[in-house]
Amino acid sequence: DQSLKALAARHNLVIGTAISNDALAEPQYKAIATQQFSSVTHENAMKWESLEPTRGTYNWAPADALIDFARKNNQKVRGHVLVWHNQLPTWLTEGVANGTISKTELRDLLKKHITTVVKRYKGKIWHWDVVNEAASDPWDTPSEIHLKGFWAQNLGPTYIADAFRWARAADPHALLFYNDYNMEAFGDRGPSDKVWFIYNLIKNLRAQGVPIDGFGSQGHLGTQYGNFDAFQVKETLDAFSDLGMVSAFTEVDVRSQMTAGVQAGDTNEINPRLQASAHNFSVLLQACLLNRHCLSYTVWGFTDKHSWVPTWFTNPPEGLATLYDENYQPKRAYNSIKSDLIFA
Ligand code: G3I
Repeated sequence: DQSLKALAARHNLVIGTAISNDALAEPQYKAIATQQFSSVTHENAMKWESLEPTRGTYNWAPADALIDFARKNNQKVRGHVLVWHNQLPTWLTEGVANGTISKTELRDLLKKHITTVVKRYKGKIWHWDVVNEAASDPWDTPSEIHLKGFWAQNLGPTYIADAFRWARAADPHALLFYNDYNMEAFGDRGPSDKVWFIYNLIKNLRAQGVPIDGFGSQGHLGTQYGNFDAFQVKETLDAFSDLGMVSAFTEVDVRSQMTAGVQAGDTNEINPRLQASAHNFSVLLQACLLNRHCLSYTVWGFTDKHSWVPTWFTNPPEGLATLYDENYQPKRAYNSIKSDLIFA
């Protein structure tokens, strides 16, 4: 068996993908999701706006469907996501904005959300992304890294410790992750300040007994940026390991600008962008393999046919971010991580 999941199992590594519920209706999509991956993540179905679109009325069916899919296929589930400033239900954000939901009530609602969701899936979730993307980016104003977004603004910084404690109480066996992007490497590049900020934040919280088990590095890279080497990336993972934590790459993809003759579906082996993409996919996997506490490597979708990148990055247009092209043919990046798994 030369599937990614079989090759990864030799290293005790779990290899995962985000799954779009709609796409799962396609036989080819479903076949690859089943055969190649040992873990799945809901791309959108477990976000608060999906689960509770109307206050007090839950829509569990799409999330449940992937949980069942995973159980049938003997796959683990990375639960995504409990606390994030995006994809919140409008009743919640509007209620806070117009003052009908007070800060005290908001905190109670967050506790109820975490408790309800984590208890419902107790025993079925391997990792929970408890808090996602809490820190600002170097290009934000002010540029000094700080806690940002809806939760920090309305509840202050203590929401992070609260969220992890509530999640632990609801399912003591799930591993609880802090998850963020631009966290690949320390060094003298822009993102490094953010890595240090999060590292110090987590270190302090753990010193106070807050149950943060894992560091999730999303791994959204591009072929024109994020060109690290595996040892730089390993250093970041090692720093969190030294705190006694596990880690994972949680949303890996490598996007390219769709300019200068780059076509969707281009599988030309010597296309430099496809080579650079393969390189970046490999660097993160190699770092994960070099660090003994990196538990899984998850890609954020596996085919260019179903990827958030082209809908998100339109000016200039970007794409080609995944392991398979739009016709489900494996690309150079697929072969590259496959050989990493074979030769490591
Ligand atoms: O809900 C509407 C639906 O009713 C409508 O039919 C459809 C048509 O456009 O749009 C739907 O909402 C879209 C949703 O995806 C579901 O497809 C939103 O417009 C779109 O913004 C949303 O994008 C998601 C994005 O998070 C939004 O925050 C992407 O699919 C998802 O891949 C992306 O995932 C995030 C991770 O959760 C966290 N890290 C970054 C990563 C990439 O942005």
